[in-house]
Amino acid sequence: MAEISSLGYVGFGVSDLDKWQVFATDVMGMQIAQRDETSMSLRMDEYCQRFFLELNPCDDLIVAGWEFTSEPELESYVAELKAKGVELTQLSPELARRRHVEKAYTCQDPNGYAHEFFFGHGVANLKDQFRSKVLKGRFVTGDLGVGHILPFANRDNGPETVAFYKDVLKLRVSDYIRQEVQPGMLVEATFFHTKTGRHHSIATAQAPTPKVLNHFMVQVEDMDDVGLAYDRAKAAGLNIVLELGHHPNDKTFSFYAQTPSGFNYEFGWGGVVIDENSWEVKTYQQMSDWGHKRNPIVIQETEEHPLS
Ligand SMILES: [Fe+2]
Repeated sequence: MAEISSLGYVGFGVSDLDKWQVFATDVMGMQIAQRDETSMSLRMDEYCQRFFLELNPCDDLIVAGWEFTSEPELESYVAELKAKGVELTQLSPELARRRHVEKAYTCQDPNGYAHEFFFGHGVANLKDQFRSKVLKGRFVTGDLGVGHILPFANRDNGPETVAFYKDVLKLRVSDYIRQEVQPGMLVEATFFHTKTGRHHSIATAQAPTPKVLNHFMVQVEDMDDVGLAYDRAKAAGLNIVLELGHHPNDKTFSFYAQTPSGFNYEFGWGGVVIDENSWEVKTYQQMSDWGHKRNPIVIQETEEHPLS
């Protein structure tokens, strides 16, 4: 049975590439791989790219790229999806080259962004090793993938979305969080992992929001890098959406701040890697054990901070 290996890349549509360039390199600590008038790609490790951004006023998630370890694995998975009635198209050779992969297929998510399935990612030359301007250590990537995304199901299709990830894409359920955020208002989130075990590569919850993407998460090896990234986000004038805190399910220590596109990023340390032999699916009653205090979003009206 073919199965996704990891979340290999993520694509965003963004309205301001210049702000993203400063944010990605100086605040998050990524490296620019390519930049032109309408696009930019970012590195976090030896992959030629991990995030790509296209000039697009949507300011939202456009692609989740799922990695397979070989062409037979990819083809077997694609055949299974087609047998389930999923409409798939193969990326043109030119688009596959832009993604730095050998071959890829794409299909639509129930919530209006695309899933791409690929194998054969591009590896940068040894003399062109990833170098962050600001990180003390490294991002946690490798076969665990880029991190995770939390796209919302926003059209009363929460159950359909969960079924799509679980039964169609065959992602593995990690756990659930059902929290009454205010009397009578229950938020239900479902977390999914791939076979390489990062606690979740994608999670979803149903919410009436204008954007599909709530946040994406990147993880660092060194806990100090979370604190240093928090200080950089504050210094850059970003809205700190959730202060430093700790999640009960993936055990991540993190903060959340707003990107130049309005959706959030989570910058974290210490996430669990699931051992399938001993893992037990649980349901938690709160999103955070401690911290993650929510701040009101501040609309910046001055030119003081170039990123806000
Ligand atoms: Fe997260």
